[in-house]
Amino acid sequence: MYQLIDGKKISREIKDELREKAAQMKARGEERCLAVIQVGNDPASAVYVKNKKKACEYVGIRSLSYELPEETEEERLLEVIGELNRRPDVNGILVQLPLPEHINEEKILLAIAPEKDVDGFHPVNVGNLSIGRPSYVSCTPAGVIQLLKRSGIEIEGKECVVLGRSNIVGKPMAMLLLRENGTVTVCHSRTRNLKEIARRADILVVAVGRPGFVDGDFVREGAVVIDVGIHRNGEGKLCGDVDFESVAAKASAITPVPGGVGPMTIAMLMANCVEGVR
Ligand code: GUN
Repeated sequence: MYQLIDGKKISREIKDELREKAAQMKARGEERCLAVIQVGNDPASAVYVKNKKKACEYVGIRSLSYELPEETEEERLLEVIGELNRRPDVNGILVQLPLPEHINEEKILLAIAPEKDVDGFHPVNVGNLSIGRPSYVSCTPAGVIQLLKRSGIEIEGKECVVLGRSNIVGKPMAMLLLRENGTVTVCHSRTRNLKEIARRADILVVAVGRPGFVDGDFVREGAVVIDVGIHRNGEGKLCGDVDFESVAAKASAITPVPGGVGPMTIAMLMANCVEGVR
């Protein structure tokens, strides 16, 4: 029988801890403030942004909301970011992705002051993470580490295999597992013998962005499996990168979709806002 890793419960615990911390800080006159910028009306982005603002309210972080029209020019967005960089009362800046096509995403992410980059996307933060200096860490992989730790799963010395090498998940995930003294292998679309390598894992983190890609054949008996994927299947139901039934039959612990990694991303954004670099 497998352990179901409950991201909903763990994310609530984290937000409750942060709520206390934020209240103590406020009592000392240190209020936290997150600026959230959305450009255009992408419906998925609107839901994410709404949830981020709701979480801020719950934890006790002031949030500023910038909803800019789709046709906003890059220059204008850079101006807004510049103003927020200079404002001493704002300590976190988040630009919701994706941006409209006429805006250069890289240029925008580079414009956010690294010390306010609560998404952990700025190259300075990515670099600091990779050389073991305090940094903001991308929220989803940071959430995976919390899921493991708070479920009593040790990382040190374990064979950790990460499927996927994106800048937002796969690469920082590998760095974080390494920081926890795991032995880390990163696989991607050009990896040969993917199944064989995945089957070596004590801890398998799946972030390939393809629904149901990993089935029981990829998993060693007793492995811990973390599913970062989120998709809607043909029936409109949420599902992950992992075929839950066949993998759960072999795993010792597994995250569900929904209710696994998903809720952790916002909890870790709140942690970044309240606690700063770690
Ligand atoms: N779009 C999808 N996920 C994210 C995220 O974690 N941060 C930002 N800024 N945009 C996103």
